[in-house]
Amino acid sequence: MKIVIMGPKGAGKSSIGRILSANTGLQTIDTDRMIEDLHEQRDGHRLTCREIFAEHGESCFRQLECDVAAEANRHDWHLIVTGGSIMLNPDSRRLLRHDALLIYLIASPEVLWERATAHGTPPWLEGPEGRDRFAREVAFRDEVLRPFADVVVDTTEGTPEELAEQVGSLINEELAILSRSANTFGEIIRLTTFGESHGPAIGAVFDGIRPGIEISAETIQRELDRRRPGQSKVVTYRKESDTVHILSGVFEGKTTGAPIAMIIYNQDQRSENYDDLKDVFRPGHADFTFYRKYGLRDHRGGGRSSGRETACRVAGGAVAKELLAKRGVRIVAHTVELAGIRAQTCDYDVIESNPVRCADPEAAKAMEEAVLAARKDCDSVGGIVQLEIHGVPPGLGDPVFGKLDARLTSAIMTMGAVKGVEVGLGFALARMRGSESNDPMAGGTFVSNNCGGILGGISTGEPVIMRVAVKPTSSIAKPQRTLDVSGADCTIKVKGRHDPCIVPRAVPVIESMAALAILDLWEVQARLRPEWGRQWESASEA
Ligand SMILES: Cc1cc2nc3c(=O)[nH]c(=O)nc-3n(C[C@H](O)[C@H](O)[C@H](O)COP(=O)(O)O)c2cc1C
Repeated sequence: MKIVIMGPKGAGKSSIGRILSANTGLQTIDTDRMIEDLHEQRDGHRLTCREIFAEHGESCFRQLECDVAAEANRHDWHLIVTGGSIMLNPDSRRLLRHDALLIYLIASPEVLWERATAHGTPPWLEGPEGRDRFAREVAFRDEVLRPFADVVVDTTEGTPEELAEQVGSLINEELAILSRSANTFGEIIRLTTFGESHGPAIGAVFDGIRPGIEISAETIQRELDRRRPGQSKVVTYRKESDTVHILSGVFEGKTTGAPIAMIIYNQDQRSENYDDLKDVFRPGHADFTFYRKYGLRDHRGGGRSSGRETACRVAGGAVAKELLAKRGVRIVAHTVELAGIRAQTCDYDVIESNPVRCADPEAAKAMEEAVLAARKDCDSVGGIVQLEIHGVPPGLGDPVFGKLDARLTSAIMTMGAVKGVEVGLGFALARMRGSESNDPMAGGTFVSNNCGGILGGISTGEPVIMRVAVKPTSSIAKPQRTLDVSGADCTIKVKGRHDPCIVPRAVPVIESMAALAILDLWEVQARLRPEWGRQWESASEA
């Protein structure tokens, strides 16, 4: 992140920049000085920007601006004071806008003129036309620069110190907003969820989807039905149809490129069941931490911490899955362990035909019995879900902070009750030798897939395999020791309708989070290397 200060001559860029730099400790870069330095380095003569322009012509000057913008762009966490026309030139502006907060300083025309001529009228503003020329220049800059600004500050009044303080606090506000993604997932494909489990509705705004993609409410509903409460005896008895209403972004069955807003009304809250929880923290739930963080909490079902929020992810995930399917990517998750019972076989066709979503029909029966026994015993059980993503082309993910495994793991770990994610053979790799764990390559492909389809944070082209540990539901009717809001010891038996096992309903959510992460990274990669995008998008159409 860089802080870029722009504005017309006399707006206070340098003086405010200097104080900001002292206040924040950020080093300042002045693009005019950089241009002069670079020119001197190349030409051997020290000239001012204006002299360079006059002597060497516009194209030479524009090239210098672009080279300086590219260099400044590499200076993370610097204050970049822009002069001259560097922000007017689209090529250099594009470079400077990248990962930057743009501060636009402006003042009244009278004050700008006063400041610009305070130490004598610069040659380009001399003559009877000078003041009008300056006003036209300021108006032109305003038209071009204002739309790009994240923060606009009028410096007509105030001392440089006061103005620097004002700019500083606006930067802080902006950074606080930018660095928070508490309710939004993704960079290009972005899903924002809203709503609480006991409010009138929950919903999602899904943005960044290309226009013209066929998508229907039925497709989204089908996925939501897989996550819906009340679908079998092994999940919560809360009765919700989870009917999705698409409010925007889809016209005549196709995406328009506008945000896709979706809403799901809550129907069967029974908030009175939660009255006993008003002043008591449920062990294992988010009640205690939520209260400590915000100083208040919606005790009716956990509010934003409720598993109900994940319906919004499934609504967005359904669109992402559908889109990825058109590109040849198939995402399948299934229960491989529940209450300690492990699946021994894997048949995708049986996953949706048993209530625990296990690909082994025999193990599924035992798992179902284990959930029912736990429920009868006023208790709950956990399990492990395997995620398999087929058809991911090689090249997805970035080598450092944007690693594919890091992105997928982080996406899945945002789900409540998920306590572990392993990639490929995961923890078992720690007990192997390199000669066993490596995936040899022969005949143009990988001989094994112990790494789970990801090497160096980038997809190999083999299926991406992950396993997700889901803890037993914390809300149980068995008596447990806990604290109330005053810090006093007490005992709690959690009423309300809860999942005796979260695993079966977590399966479609895990698939959705994987789809959102993969689609987002796909869009990033397609922009990084357009020929990669064309290759893999056309391959799936062929
Ligand atoms: C699909 C789904 C359904 C859930 N259902 C319940 C539930 O019925 N009761 C409950 O106590 N927790 C449920 N949870 C888990 C809680 O949201 C989660 O345990 C809680 O927010 C605390 O977060 P933590 O377990 O990640 O620490 C569910 C989670 C998911 C993903």
